[in-house]
Parts: sequence; C-alpha cells; structure tokens
Amino acid sequence: MNTNSNISDFILFGGHGDLAFRKLMPALYHLSKDKYISAETRIITISRRDIGTIEHIELVRNKLIEYIADFDEVFFNTFKNQLLIVNIDLNKKETFNNLKKVLDKYKNRDRINYLSTSPNFFAQICESLDYWKLISSNSRVVLEKPLGRDLKSFQDLNEKVLKYFKEDQIYRIDHYLGKDTVQNILALRFSNILFLPLWNSHHIDHVQITVAESVGVENRWDYYNEYGALRDMIQNHLMQLICLIAMEPPCSIEANSIRDEKVKVLRSFRKMNDTDIKEKTVRAQYIEGSSQGESVPGYIQNGLKQSDTETFVAIRVDIDNWRWNNVPFYIRSGKRMQKRNSEIVIQFKSIPHSIFGMDESSINANKLVITLQPNESIELKLMNKVPGLSDGMKLQQVDLELNSPHKKQRKSDAYERLILDVINGNATLFMRLDEVEEAWKWTDTILDAWKRDVSPMKKYTAGSYGPSAAIQIIAKDSRAWNDE
Ligand code: BG6
Repeated sequence: MNTNSNISDFILFGGHGDLAFRKLMPALYHLSKDKYISAETRIITISRRDIGTIEHIELVRNKLIEYIADFDEVFFNTFKNQLLIVNIDLNKKETFNNLKKVLDKYKNRDRINYLSTSPNFFAQICESLDYWKLISSNSRVVLEKPLGRDLKSFQDLNEKVLKYFKEDQIYRIDHYLGKDTVQNILALRFSNILFLPLWNSHHIDHVQITVAESVGVENRWDYYNEYGALRDMIQNHLMQLICLIAMEPPCSIEANSIRDEKVKVLRSFRKMNDTDIKEKTVRAQYIEGSSQGESVPGYIQNGLKQSDTETFVAIRVDIDNWRWNNVPFYIRSGKRMQKRNSEIVIQFKSIPHSIFGMDESSINANKLVITLQPNESIELKLMNKVPGLSDGMKLQQVDLELNSPHKKQRKSDAYERLILDVINGNATLFMRLDEVEEAWKWTDTILDAWKRDVSPMKKYTAGSYGPSAAIQIIAKDSRAWNDE
C-alpha cells in the first residue's frame, strides 16, 4: 500500500482509442487501486463521441474486464468516481471550452495532457489548450509515438509543441523504458562492482539485441505500412536499449544525467555509407507461413495491396568510442517470427587458455542474458564442474539466475511506471529532444539508402527466425544469434 497524495487532473486525448483502453486505463486503474495516485485524481477522457458519463463508465468497465486479469468490481465502484468524459472535436477549437469548464473547477492542480492521438493532432491540441488558457507551469504534455517519420518531420512536430510547452514539460514516451527489466539494466550495471571492470571491449566480444514478435500486423496494417520496422521498433525501442547497455556511468539517477550519457552513445553510433548499409543492414518482409501450428497470410495479403515496407530489420551497429571499440552490437526485430522473444545477450570473450585438458573452444564463453519477453529474467551463464567422481574434471554450463524474489506480486505494466513518473514530474525514463534527434539522424541515412534500394528487400516465411541474410550478417563475423 502506498500513500501518494499528489492530486492532478489526467487528461486523456484519444481516450477511446485502442492504446487508451488496452494500456492506459488499466495502468490508471492499478495505480489508483494500489494507492500510487490519489482517489481524487480526475481521469478526464476526451472523446469525439458525444456520450454521457454513465455510458462512458460502462464502456471503461467492460474494457477493463477485457484487458485485465484481476478486475475488482468492488474497487471499480470507487474508481468510477474518478472517471469523467468531455466531448471535444479536436478540429474545432471552440469545443475545448467543454474542457475548460471542467478544469476550471481546480485551477491549481497539476495537469497531465496525455496525447494518445495521431501526431497530426498534436499541434491543434496544444494550440487549443493555449487558446483557452489551459496550460500553466503545472502542466505537462505526454507525446506518444510515432514521433515523426524522419528528422525533419520530428523537428517540425516538436517545434509546434514547443510553442506552448517548455522542453521540461514535454514527456516523450518510449514504453520500453518503463519495463522493469529494462530499468534493471541500470541497477545491474551501476550497483554491482562485479560488472564494472568487465563491461568493455577487453572482456565483451559482442552484444545482441532481439525483439521478435510472433504476431503479424493485422488490423494495424495502414499505420504500420507507413512506418515499417526501422521506424516502429529500431529508431526508438532498440536504440534506447543499446544506450542503456553502452552508456558511461551517469553522475546520478537524475533525468538529465542519464539522458546526457544516452545522447553521447547515440552520437557515437558509426555513420554508415552505402557500402556499409549494403553489408550491415537487412530489411525483409514476411510471406505466408505458419504461426503456432496455424497457417497465416503474408504481409501483402494482410493489407491487400503491394508494399515495400519492411516487417523485419537486422543491423550490425558499431559504436565508436573507447569502451566499445571493435565490439559490434547486432540488433534485429521482426513481426511474425518463430516466437515472441525479446532479449539482450552480452557475450563475453572466451578464456585465453584452458587448463582442463580439452581445448578452450569447448568451454562456453560466459554470457549475460537479459530477457524482456515473454518472461522477464536475467541469467548469467557460467561454467561449472559436473558433480561426482567421474574421470577427470568434466565441465558443464549452468545458469545463475538473478531473478527478483517477489514473484508472487502482480507484475506492473510499463505504462504504470511511466504514467506515475509523469504525474510525479520525473522525466528520467522519457526521451529528451536531442536524443530523438540523434536517433533520427542515424536512421535517416539508412532510410535514404533503402529508398535507393542499396539493400534490396528480402523475404522470410512467417513463423521463421527471419531471412537467411540476417543469419549471414552475424555469421560472416564468425558469430551466431542466440537462437535455441
Ligand atoms: C510498439 C510498436 O511500440 O511496440 C508495435 O508500435 C509493437 O508494433 C510493440 O508490437 C511491442 O511492444 P511490446 O511491449 O509488446 O514488446
């Protein structure tokens, strides 16, 4: 039980959208139930649909039942008092007056404007809020991705929001940063002396990051087709993961200390020319195959039109700084892969000489495997003696599991952490303007080369580990993906 007395108005634009029902409302429900936010915090859904409070409450109730496993009717009878609905047509500035009437009741409260709408509406929403004088120094704005399609569109978008909100009032969400295991990377690296001397090119051979999904794009086809895997996953989630693995120790846990270090990593990403992009990047699209024993259509069949959007990306990333000299980061992400599996593998180097009679290649090099999905875990792979009296010294690989001891507790969702941080004004897990700009600068080069077909589109069968070219990208360096 927690006692946070922070009372704010949480204004949810796009409040009847998929993300709001699937993730945001369940997160607010749990935060309120666990008393992380005050029962007086108002959750104000903004919707174009002209429906009344009773109908809205019933809708939220049904969606919560659909999306959370531990729905509690008794608690919902209290929670529903936090729910309000305001009818606004985002294209009509005058309708924001409806919101003003509600917000004016508590003029001094913190106001969290969560923009879970298409980015096309961001500028209009900010402008209308300003027009009705609904932005104060206590206001914050949360921006959901996609944050642009490239550097230029990101900067345009940002400029519009910055006209009304200061940079420290803007919270750019990357929900991967809200995942517990992702935050644990910081704890692991910076609260254990053990890793300090090992975390560099003297001891680490390479790093792998895989974010594989077994699902296809289905009903998100139109959105996805405009963005593709590089913009949807690599430019944000995977690049952020690289930053946490590669960053130097920040001087504190404070937001800007962490973000300063992350941006340094992004600036050290080696820029790629066309030859590099041909050799070190793979883009591919899934064709029909089978997933979990069922045959599934290909990407083109899903969308019923031709497309050159990639649903899979693999890249060898090089980071040009002292710590990571000659330590490649192999990253890949795809839809309709063999299984849902997101993991970071820190592959240490082999021992320099074996005293055990067998050659050193039969002694597995240590690795640290940080699994984000489907189950969060951290395992350190070590060599150990096979117990018993057998001849000589036999060795085997064992896993040292570094899992949290609180397994029985409900696992909080990434959005709970992030929403709570916005409410408390803690920007550590959000992306600063310059971070997103650096990430776009690097991805823009690849996007540009792909447009010129420098690295032609490959195909892979739905339900596979991706195209053979992705195996090649790592195999040509005499390494292999951690697929078991
Ligand atoms: C989103 C992408 O940001 O992340 C989706 O837009 C993707 O395409 C999702 O499916 C994956 O999130 P998670 O938390 O399920 O790995």
